[in-house]
Amino acid sequence: MVVASENGAIVIAPLLFTWLQGADFYFDLHKEAVESLPAGNGKQWLDIGSGPGLVARLAAERGYRALGIDTDPQMVTAAQWIARHSHSPADFQTGDFTRLPAESAQVVSAASLLAVLPDREAGLRSLWRLLRPGGTLLIVEPTHQMTSANARRAIQNGLPKKRIAGLRMWANARQGNIVDPSMYETLGAKSIYFQPLLHGLVGTWVIQKFSLAEAPA
Ligand SMILES: C[S@@+](CC[C@H](N)C(=O)[O-])C[C@H]1O[C@@H](n2cnc3c(N)ncnc32)[C@H](O)[C@@H]1O
Repeated sequence: MVVASENGAIVIAPLLFTWLQGADFYFDLHKEAVESLPAGNGKQWLDIGSGPGLVARLAAERGYRALGIDTDPQMVTAAQWIARHSHSPADFQTGDFTRLPAESAQVVSAASLLAVLPDREAGLRSLWRLLRPGGTLLIVEPTHQMTSANARRAIQNGLPKKRIAGLRMWANARQGNIVDPSMYETLGAKSIYFQPLLHGLVGTWVIQKFSLAEAPA
């Protein structure tokens, strides 16, 4: 698929992330992350920084009302195109999540978002603000294990080959630029559960907000 800007120039980021989201290793780890949450039964799931829409489509498959939000209109165009062609009910809108109303969803997810924000702590607080009481924040981010050497070892140990070059690129881009997970402890959450993915190179943090009845005085 080619996504072009108004002046016809090829837009690299949506192409790159569409390609990456089609890699087996990338698809599998995000599916595992989404499946760490219970089935949705129509609950609202907001995927922030949704890119071409993989997490929102997986959430919709799991029974959530899934809405992906991204500041980049080309990403949103790519996500809408893929959702239409894969008959996914996931919806996508262009927008900046810091401007969304508070307590918008029962689940808020952010995959590879925090690392690209100018102020990660402020970004995390804005994600938390979007969650209703009792809701769940799902973060997917590379861990300190994400280095070129560890990625090479994981590939040699037999990951699916389709677009595996994406893992080498990801490791090169992210080693030394990892989101510090200790910042999740500043949220005052009810619980934080960590699950390693992709041989520990990536992790998902499932962070639960207190319900109104449980909120500490
Ligand atoms: C590294 S990409 C990750 C895409 C996708 N979540 C994934 O894991 O493949 C980060 C995305 O966040 C988007 N983004 C950055 N700042 C944002 C903001 N303030 N509100 C919404 N989206 C934002 C970018 O446009 C980009 O598409």
